[in-house]
Amino acid sequence: MSRPVLDPQYGMHVWPCAVVLAQYIWFHRRLVCGKRILEVGAGVSLPGIVAAKCGAQVILSDNAEFPQCLDNCQRSCQMNNLSGVRIIGLTWGHVSPCLLTLAPVDLILGSDVFFEPEDFEDIISTVHYLMEKNPHAQFWTTYQVRSANWSIEGLLYKWGMESTCVPLQSFEANKEQLAWSSLPGMYTIQMMVISKKIKD
Ligand SMILES: C[S@@+](CC[C@H](N)C(=O)[O-])C[C@H]1O[C@@H](n2cnc3c(N)ncnc32)[C@H](O)[C@@H]1O
Ligand SMILES: *[C@@H]1O[C@H](CO)[C@@H](O)[C@H](O)[C@H]1NC(C)=O
Ligand SMILES: *[C@@H]1O[C@H](CO)[C@@H](O)[C@H](O)[C@H]1NC(C)=O
Repeated sequence: MSRPVLDPQYGMHVWPCAVVLAQYIWFHRRLVCGKRILEVGAGVSLPGIVAAKCGAQVILSDNAEFPQCLDNCQRSCQMNNLSGVRIIGLTWGHVSPCLLTLAPVDLILGSDVFFEPEDFEDIISTVHYLMEKNPHAQFWTTYQVRSANWSIEGLLYKWGMESTCVPLQSFEANKEQLAWSSLPGMYTIQMMVISKKIKD
């Protein structure tokens, strides 16, 4: 299979999904203010940075085995004059001491984390673990449609979660150009809010 421009494993530049998720956060900035937020697979961390600027208490994370991505999170904070943001190594599907001791969060952010189907269940199991700590936590994620059959619906059902697809026009993200970025226009991006399924 041919890869897009850069290997998506590589959290070294801002992905189109990040701009869309950042726009969603900005649109809901009053709600985000004061919330405890964890961004997973953060890379350059645009959504987490915007959330921190909106007054959220933010923790950025990326693969514990990719120190260069964690350095990136650090640099993004420095460049944006954010000193109160914690950065941790958090590898999807790994129950590390860092994950075990993490205080409950209200929101989990994940921009373009669903790109490798092999990783989907690891991401969802990590989110599930975080939702055990706080059953009211929501997972806000943007997904770039790269293949029609890459679906997480079955996994969400298995892990007792449900998702709502948020139309891009509802937060003014259905544009070819968002803020200063012309990235989103070229791709099909979906915004989803995932939560623990309420048992009847
Ligand atoms: C396509 S990039 C998206 C980066 C950033 N969220 C954005 O949208 O600009 C995917 C990110 O997931 C991270 N990642 C890949 N595999 C991971 C894993 N097993 N655990 C945690 N993070 C991982 C990569 O390091 C990278 O930062
Ligand atoms: C960060 O702070 C420096 C020094 O006060 C300032 O020059 C710079 O414009 C700030 N950067 C941002 C992104 O706010
Ligand atoms: C999706 O479809 C392609 C081509 O039909 C196939 O090679 C791939 O294995 C499928 N992926 C999944 C996750 O079912």
